[in-house]
Amino acid sequence: MQCIRARSLTKSYGGAGRPAVDGIDLSVGAGSVFGFLGPNGAGKSTTIKMLTTLIRPDSGDLSVFGIDALRFPLEVRRRIGVVLQQASYEPTLTVSGALEKYGMMWDVPAAERRRRAGRLLEEFDLSEIRGKRNDDLSMGQRRRVQVAREFMHDMDLLFLDEPTVGMDPAARRALLDSLRRRAKSGLTIFYTTHVLAEAEYICDEIAIIKGGRTVAAGSPESLKSRFGSGREVRIRVPSRDGRIPALLGGVDGCSVSVDAGTEIRVRPSGSNEALLRVLRVLGSHGIEIDNLSAAPANLEETFLRVVEEEPGAPGR
Ligand SMILES: Nc1ncnc2c1ncn2[C@@H]1O[C@H](COP(=O)(O)OP(=O)(O)OP(=O)(O)O)[C@@H](O)[C@H]1O
Ligand SMILES: [Mg+2]
Repeated sequence: MQCIRARSLTKSYGGAGRPAVDGIDLSVGAGSVFGFLGPNGAGKSTTIKMLTTLIRPDSGDLSVFGIDALRFPLEVRRRIGVVLQQASYEPTLTVSGALEKYGMMWDVPAAERRRRAGRLLEEFDLSEIRGKRNDDLSMGQRRRVQVAREFMHDMDLLFLDEPTVGMDPAARRALLDSLRRRAKSGLTIFYTTHVLAEAEYICDEIAIIKGGRTVAAGSPESLKSRFGSGREVRIRVPSRDGRIPALLGGVDGCSVSVDAGTEIRVRPSGSNEALLRVLRVLGSHGIEIDNLSAAPANLEETFLRVVEEEPGAPGR
């Protein structure tokens, strides 16, 4: 079941510049964690504001839970949670007070508010600082409160725009694990981060945008296998063989370096075809292979490659 379907969303902030979002299509399945990645200024936050009905697109269609979000924004808002990128807090409220106030805003009954607040203080490691004012919190503590308070109400879809900024590694991991648990019980999560390891850890699907346009989309695995080629493959031969540099020097589509010992490094410049040619040349000259290894592609490498190579909107 689709939770979000967006077609050709565009948004300009006025002025002479190009649109901040320039025709984005999105399809987010219910109960999945969807990672929305892209360099600074790519249009992620602008897209989130459109998806959450905080700003109206200049053009395009948007349906959330099958509801036309442009015509019935309030119906959509009732069922979503949003943690925006900007810090938002009331300076004089305590941590407990912030949770309580959020629960009241969402009409959560008093007993349920107490139960939820207790659980969230525990889950987000806020118990010790429950009586501190927001103003006196550290940056990461404040961000934890901003995320935690969103869980005071029920929702079917949660948008998180760089929620882990300023959080320490333990707090990050705890948040990611609790998001995973919630996704397993049916919550759909739309997640933005610049920490690619986070996206790799929790996302089922990913879209990478640049210059207001989608440049790649798919599961982390499919993106890595599509864009992760071109990484270095190391071939170890049993003994040093003086013929190797000349034999492999002429193989098209890759660069080859041979150290003084027994390791050959092959970096295909396009597809992995070149690697097969290298193996064939070695085989046809009777050169055995001891070991072959490739550094596993990670999402960060893949991201950098996509962002560098894919054009995005012209002129960006
Ligand atoms: N309120 C605004 N008025 C004018 N221009 C804006 C406004 N908000 C964003 N922009 C511009 O729109 C473009 C997209 O910005 P947006 O905040 O959506 O990017 P982002 O992908 O969230 O970036 P980041 O990773 O830095 O958070 C940028 O060029 C930005 O300068
Ligand atoms: Mg942003």
